[in-house]
Amino acid sequence: MSKPSFNKLTEKRAQSKLGGGEKRIESQHNKGKLTARERIELLVDEGSFHEIGAFVTHRSADFGMEKNKFLGDGVVTGYAKVNGRLTYLFSQDFTVFGGSLSETHAEKICKIMDLALQNGAPLIGLNDSGGARIQEGVVSLGGYADIFFRNTRASGVIPQLSAIMGPCAGGAVYSPAITDFILMVEHTSYMFVTGPNVVKTVTNEEVSSEDLGGASVHSSKSGVAHFAAANEVEAINHLKSLLSYIPQNCEEKALDLPYTSKDEKVEALNNIVPENPNQPYDIREVIDGVIDENSFFEVHKNFAENIVVGFARLAGKSIGIIANQPSYLAGVLDVHSSQKGARFVRFCDAFNIPLLVLEDVPGFLPGTDQEWNAIITNGAKLLYAFSEATVPRITVITRKAYGGAYDVMNSKHIGADMNYAWPSAEIAVMGAKGAAEIIFKGEIKTAEDPEAAWKEKEQLYGDMFANPYRAAARGFIDEVILPEETRERLISAFAMLENKVDNLPKKKHGNIPL
Ligand code: HXC
Repeated sequence: MSKPSFNKLTEKRAQSKLGGGEKRIESQHNKGKLTARERIELLVDEGSFHEIGAFVTHRSADFGMEKNKFLGDGVVTGYAKVNGRLTYLFSQDFTVFGGSLSETHAEKICKIMDLALQNGAPLIGLNDSGGARIQEGVVSLGGYADIFFRNTRASGVIPQLSAIMGPCAGGAVYSPAITDFILMVEHTSYMFVTGPNVVKTVTNEEVSSEDLGGASVHSSKSGVAHFAAANEVEAINHLKSLLSYIPQNCEEKALDLPYTSKDEKVEALNNIVPENPNQPYDIREVIDGVIDENSFFEVHKNFAENIVVGFARLAGKSIGIIANQPSYLAGVLDVHSSQKGARFVRFCDAFNIPLLVLEDVPGFLPGTDQEWNAIITNGAKLLYAFSEATVPRITVITRKAYGGAYDVMNSKHIGADMNYAWPSAEIAVMGAKGAAEIIFKGEIKTAEDPEAAWKEKEQLYGDMFANPYRAAARGFIDEVILPEETRERLISAFAMLENKVDNLPKKKHGNIPL
């Protein structure tokens, strides 16, 4: 027979697992959402979750709250193994006061954050909350600030991932916003600083929650979310995949997968770049030809599609890829693609993930929209991020490397370790047509047949500059390689750079143009 004190524990544990009660669990399911505990079960290795603070209740006494207490106070916190590795997590329970954040709810999250930071393991937040606990007032706001502070202190030390599984509104958005990656679920999650009602009052604009801050808006228009999943199961699988590419903390490297060398020649790479330099192609074909089979895990897929970024494996090792996309806006750099690239570069650099750049860029996007939205400051972000990165860095120029964009896209001048170019590379101040028009303006104007003269000068300039050999003669390009040799070269070069040590000058921190 079990002891009476043990019975009480069993009873309390059962109570805590119910959160707001069976009826509310059902209401969560009716909204097409899983409960906080179901999400954890899906995320962690079976039987590995250890809960912390299951019996915590709030301390509020206003509005009759002293009679309205639930064990755990609306958030399940603890640690577990994910893919066999230690991970700290919290999962907000919408069935308890709408998952709203009370003083004690915040304390539970902070305790987990402190443990994650002290023990050097990733933190995952599963967010589903109506925001600050309205009955508590300022202690709830203070609780949020305690979390924001810890998010910031942990940034760059441990990976922090946020999955938005329901509402995330008001100031609450700033915790996920400080973390490294945000993942949202289509149709059941939303994020905004001010909701549709406030928007209507202040601006008279009518907009639904979904259109204001749903997963598709944030993963395509604003770029706030790095991933949009069709449902919660897919979202949790994304989290697990993402973790597999990244290390536990900034002192470690990502885990290598076993890899056996073979003939690494990939002939299909020879046929991707079209003869006509103005014809687009999908840079993902190049990525697929270079990396280990099916290993590309794309980040920010639907946002700023003129640059493609994501994790991949090369001979079993995790790398970060930043690639211009000629099939979208000709791969031009603009405000959003610069921001997207810069943030990804900085994540990889902070967590010792080597960088591969695939370059085919005609320059920066011209126009008032870009200038007024600070392409100067934003382009500088990407330039700064690459220049500051100390991880192994390699660039392959597949076609265009024009103007300032040549410098920005991980050129040797800003610290890249190796730059390769395919024979199709054109490394110049600008395209041959535009260049001929400027420097031979007089001759073209006075020629008998200006059109023919322009063509001739374009050809002349193209022959002289639209190739990789001038840059190679200077050593700005280390080797001109056949596309089919690229994978083999990269495997060898990244292995050569594996023990790279590069320290930044002593400083408190840099001042990236934000
Ligand atoms: C206390 C809350 C709550 C909150 C929801 N609940 N939000 N309780 N504080 N912030 C409770 C509800 O009273 C309800 O309790 C239960 O949770 C479920 O809520 P419903 O409204 O029935 O659910 P739903 O229809 O799905 O709507 C969800 C919602 C809505 C859109 C999130 O509840 C809502 O608008 N909540 C208020 C959001 C808000 O204004 N939060 C403060 C934002 S300011 P019962 O007992 O009836 O089931 C903020 C500042 C942070 O967060 C600042 C940081 C610096």
